[in-house]
Amino acid sequence: MAAVFQSERFFREAWPQISQAFASPTDAASDVEWIVGVAALEAGARILDAPCGFGRHSIELARRGFQVTGVDFSETELDRARKAATEAGVPLRLVCQDIRDMEFPGEFDLAVNLFSSIGYFSDDEDRLVIDRFWRALKPGGVFVLDTRNRDQLVRSLPPEERKRVNGWTLRIENAFDPATSRWRARWWRSKRAIAKAKEGAAELIGESEIRLYSAHELSAMLRPERWGHVELYGGLDGTPFSLDAPRLVLVGERRPRRWPPSRVLWSCSPVRSIPTARRSSSGRPASWSATTRPRPGSRGSPPRRQEYCSAFGRAAPRA
Ligand SMILES: C[S@@+](CC[C@H](N)C(=O)[O-])C[C@H]1O[C@@H](n2cnc3c(N)ncnc32)[C@H](O)[C@@H]1O
Repeated sequence: MAAVFQSERFFREAWPQISQAFASPTDAASDVEWIVGVAALEAGARILDAPCGFGRHSIELARRGFQVTGVDFSETELDRARKAATEAGVPLRLVCQDIRDMEFPGEFDLAVNLFSSIGYFSDDEDRLVIDRFWRALKPGGVFVLDTRNRDQLVRSLPPEERKRVNGWTLRIENAFDPATSRWRARWWRSKRAIAKAKEGAAELIGESEIRLYSAHELSAMLRPERWGHVELYGGLDGTPFSLDAPRLVLVGERRPRRWPPSRVLWSCSPVRSIPTARRSSSGRPASWSATTRPRPGSRGSPPRRQEYCSAFGRAAPRA
């Protein structure tokens, strides 16, 4: 099997040169508004933002009084996050770490992975990263993952994109490999104006590759024995998920710990069907109303026996 392309060099060297041109603090404020609502957070809740980049979501969350930990492996991005937090006058815990190595034992009420920050590794390692988020959450804690909608991207990815960045032109050559479901990009910098950037002397600043998952693949990676009801959205504003939505957002809840209670392996009757999302007038899923959904950090009522079983009829491993 061919080795998986490593995007580490791109994120360490090229991305910090362009990150702020791609992601604005204004978007982050509206993203956070929606995330806080859908997660039904209590005041002072603890939040993990990984990878946090230059901290745009972390800072917006900290402004709202939450206790935020941001993780990223780029010192450059973390320095920016540190400075922005000081300017905003908010406390922020920043950890320089590879997200594959995160070890936070059941600390958080909410964990977020935003702006296409999954798919940088092999499928097995991406699964491991999702398990790191599961481990980091308290039972009942909420996970929000936001990435590109593969099924929309394959039909709309332009072979080339151009963008003005700090007085120079960034040209991105895109290619999607349907055999591996990986989106490859070559990122060129040119001093020429946008229209002439192709002809101008351009410098290759980096190459990236991201595995894009379809909605059903990512949903399956949130293993049912570990994650409760998983909702899909088409954006960090509650847009319904569809083939045409540019984003794919998953909202899942960590199941309570310590099941099954003993090593007994029982035979499972089929898992009850997962209810389709019902929305309340507030736009939040009615199935997560304040009366039925355990508050983050609380155990809530124990899951029913059928919920202990994975969709494959196996007893779930112990947490
Ligand atoms: C597309 S940016 C998103 C950052 C942030 N979530 C946002 O919305 O602005 C991806 C981030 O992942 C970080 N990153 C890439 N690979 C990483 C790894 N293995 N461990 C930790 N951070 C990583 C990069 O440094 C970069 O800041």
